[in-house]
Amino acid sequence: MLVSATEMINKAHDGHYAIGAFNINNMEWIKAILLGCEAKKSPVMLGVSEGAGKYMCGFDNVVGMVKHIHDNLGITVPVAIHLDHGSYEGAKAAIAAGFTSVMFDGSHYDFEENKAKSQEIIALAHSKGLSVECEVGGIGGTEDGVTSAGEQADPQECATIAGLGVDFLACGIGNIHGKYPADWAGLNFDLLKEIQEATNGKPLVLHGGSGIPREQVQKAITLGVSKVNVNTECQLVFADATRKYIEAGKDQEGKGYDPRKLLKPGTDAIQALVEEMVENFFGSAGKA
Ligand code: G3H
Ligand code: ZN
Repeated sequence: MLVSATEMINKAHDGHYAIGAFNINNMEWIKAILLGCEAKKSPVMLGVSEGAGKYMCGFDNVVGMVKHIHDNLGITVPVAIHLDHGSYEGAKAAIAAGFTSVMFDGSHYDFEENKAKSQEIIALAHSKGLSVECEVGGIGGTEDGVTSAGEQADPQECATIAGLGVDFLACGIGNIHGKYPADWAGLNFDLLKEIQEATNGKPLVLHGGSGIPREQVQKAITLGVSKVNVNTECQLVFADATRKYIEAGKDQEGKGYDPRKLLKPGTDAIQALVEEMVENFFGSAGKA
């Protein structure tokens, strides 16, 4: 069932596990993630960046695809359609299109503007029954064409945004979008503890979930992270499985070039990764 993410995130925070927020890029991604989470009886958030929304021909089409695929596959676990790294206008458009959760990412504004815009989006989203995520500090690297140096969040700024009534809060603690450099310093757990205390136990979000050593993510979950975003790792397993299929010449066997065959190895690889992550990594399996 399509729901706001508030209940699943709060349950995860209380239960010291995390909800996977897997970015979607097309129909195959939607099917793979929903089937994987249904198989493991795990709640799930489908993250939609503005770029992916454009690629999938608009937010209305994304909502329609998710709803129809969800119904056609007989999905029973809680599913949130969540705007990822939404701009001010993007968040309003996603709310109007029927998303069940939105992130307003105002981290590139000065703090007062981030606060004012966050307050507006929180009020609008809550008036429609949606969950809301905001961001303080920056997530390093590049996501959807947006690059950030990855400023680490200020705990007092986090407390202010948390006090606006946001449902869960993304904070920069040294996490990076995309692949991590070999000399990466790791997550700043002292800062994470400070933020969790300053925000009075607000559920926190870890962006850039791909490539972080699992023990670091699991430690972050014990310190208040209740949502972990993953995109790159799904893209890498899809590409790797598709490459292997073609290098093995499978696309030349019979009608192996049929997209329903060509895209299947990669789609199956995403589903296998999602199942593995929710079961062995995030701990949300069986929590639906
Ligand atoms: O917003 C999207 C996520 O933070 C994805 O990050 O591609 O590093 O897994 P990732
Ligand atoms: Zn992100």
